[in-house]
Amino acid sequence: MKKILVFACLMLAIGCSHQESDPIETEIDEILSQMTLDEKIAVIHAQSKFSSRGVPRLGVPELWCMDGPHGVRPETLWDAWASAQQTNDSCTAYPALTCLAASWDRDLAKLYGQSVGEEALYRRKNVLLGPGIDIARTPLCGRNFEYMGEDPYLAGHMAAPYVQGLQSNNVAACVKHYAVNDQEFQRLTINVNVDDRALYEIYLPAFKTAVQEGGAWSIMSSYNKYQNKFVSHNPRLLKEILKGEWGWDGAVISDWGAVHETVGAAEGGTDLEFGSYTDGESRNTPAAYDHYFLAQPYKEKLLAGELPMKDLDDKVRRVLRLILRTQPNGKKGYLCSDQHYADCRKIGTEGIVLLKNKDGILPMKAKAKRIVVLGENAIRPMIVGGSSSSLKAQREISPLDGIRAAFPDAEVVYERAYYSGEPTPGRGYNYSFYDISEERPAAKLLEDALAAVEGADYVLFIGGLNKQKGQDCEGRDRESYDLPYGQNEVIEAIAAVRPDLIYINISGTPVAMPFAGDVAAIVQAWYLGSETGNALSDVLTGKVNPSGKLPFTFPIALEDGPLKTERQYPGIQDEDGNWQVYYDEGIYVGYRWYDTRQVPVLFPFGYGLSYTTFKYGQVKASAKAIKDDISFSIPITNTGKVAGAEVVQLYIQDVKSSVDRPLKELKGFEKVWLQPGETKTVRFTIGKDALSFFDAERHEWVAEPGEFKALIGASVADIRSEVSFELK
Ligand code: BGC
Repeated sequence: MKKILVFACLMLAIGCSHQESDPIETEIDEILSQMTLDEKIAVIHAQSKFSSRGVPRLGVPELWCMDGPHGVRPETLWDAWASAQQTNDSCTAYPALTCLAASWDRDLAKLYGQSVGEEALYRRKNVLLGPGIDIARTPLCGRNFEYMGEDPYLAGHMAAPYVQGLQSNNVAACVKHYAVNDQEFQRLTINVNVDDRALYEIYLPAFKTAVQEGGAWSIMSSYNKYQNKFVSHNPRLLKEILKGEWGWDGAVISDWGAVHETVGAAEGGTDLEFGSYTDGESRNTPAAYDHYFLAQPYKEKLLAGELPMKDLDDKVRRVLRLILRTQPNGKKGYLCSDQHYADCRKIGTEGIVLLKNKDGILPMKAKAKRIVVLGENAIRPMIVGGSSSSLKAQREISPLDGIRAAFPDAEVVYERAYYSGEPTPGRGYNYSFYDISEERPAAKLLEDALAAVEGADYVLFIGGLNKQKGQDCEGRDRESYDLPYGQNEVIEAIAAVRPDLIYINISGTPVAMPFAGDVAAIVQAWYLGSETGNALSDVLTGKVNPSGKLPFTFPIALEDGPLKTERQYPGIQDEDGNWQVYYDEGIYVGYRWYDTRQVPVLFPFGYGLSYTTFKYGQVKASAKAIKDDISFSIPITNTGKVAGAEVVQLYIQDVKSSVDRPLKELKGFEKVWLQPGETKTVRFTIGKDALSFFDAERHEWVAEPGEFKALIGASVADIRSEVSFELK
């Protein structure tokens, strides 16, 4: 009876936010006061690959997590990564997060979260393991495609609405991987040496925004070390900053296997231990999970008085809060609905970036009779691969199929042109459902491609990376900034006979394009998920006017970037053989480096073209000096013939500073939709926080009096109007 009463109270409590007399908090007190030590221990570590226990005696349900972040991963076995071979666990595959970031559209990020959250709810998940928002510090990082680019303001302000949308389904976001997990090389153990200024200005703000503005209910502690301590054992990152300075009341979930010993995790601030390679996986015995670091070993230390009970209670409280916040409470989800496919297509079209469009070759004309599509990525499924974010999609429309559907009356000829070799099997599921084999040698593939292009109205080359190991994939960085599989040579050879070649790049990270000057058009098409072919052809045909802008810089060559030494990347071994990486570039990451140091780039941060043109008027400030805040307004006009959207970007420049500062930093963006001839005024309001830098010695944000500039532009390198103001 008591159990039923408690559960009823629980249900009443669910859905309320954490405020003064929050019923969830009252319930947590009530439950906690009745829990035995064993019950407390049981809720803070995994009971299977993706779930942890509740308190059955008190009616507290289990917690189920799942990857994340661009679709709900298929079920794995209880105790292993292998597929559970279920037939009811497909999903809609949404575009990977770089595409979302490239849309620069907060409403779309919210829609994305809502939509994927409905799928997670349907699949009965409490926690979706995402979004990932580590900073794209190097184009070589294997997981950039899962993240939101190189700028903390953009990443944070796109992550926050995603989190809100997702959590509106009572499914928690688990924002990952906190923190400084910016490379895959030696990711499980590498120690990141980063100064406080770079930590606070570059690597933490997106997490802070996701937590404070997005209200994320959980965070994943990353594998790497910081200050020579694993992040899951790291009181500075977890207790002092996340739970202390940011006042966060959520639960820290360890990355799978990121906990290495009991005292560290207990004292460091990890609340829930998942996926350690303890007996849970290797021996598969019924009691295997009792051997987790936060299981029996923790209990023993508590009973021996070696660790305080209050830390345990804090963890339990946070985990209970997460469980209570994520009860469906009558909400029902949907899987693979028409609406979800429509959302997926919309996100894809809005994120695609048009990088080059010589003589307006795009959009393609409807009357095209012969279209030649080249390149392996035109046919290659991209949803399986990349590791933990790999999905079992109910459908995936390839670029080739999308183009065929968009041109039903044209002859669409396909030639592969290059071959990437046998695919790497995905985690738990493989590629057996499609045949990617190829018999022809490279020379013959090129010869056939060259023969095919003759007489074509359009020649499209769809290439790039492909989520193979080392090509946009968890666990392995890229080895080269160049396109793999000899694509440069193939593209050059085709462009030599067809200078009107349209190159479509599939990748979630910048790649070298030495052929950029020799092709007519370049489209950055990311990984677009289930609706790939449809979204891509919407943009190619002009059904949708492209409006995406790059969330990171494309350097010309890797050497142009800020990471110049081995110790900066990939890191070096210290005398004890431990891997160390040094962020010697400090805050000069991405455009902060290229723009400030005036290094020419292939495509700058924030850049992207449209099929129309936009005129920027004169920016006006609401005052000559900032008090608490200040606003800037600027009229934007669509001066072309088709409707379109422009991402208007606000950068702030500190004209004179006592410390070295980047030339400009992104502090606002708005996407504005305009009919031909239409003008709208875009407004930005900023506070003093947007003017400040982090003073590591004083451990505080400082805005120095003096002149500042608000620079408004179409990219970091294309400032259209500016106005000065003062901080007195
Ligand atoms: C990855 C996480 C993922 C987890 C569970 C880890 O290896 O780093 O991003 O959520 O596995 O699959």
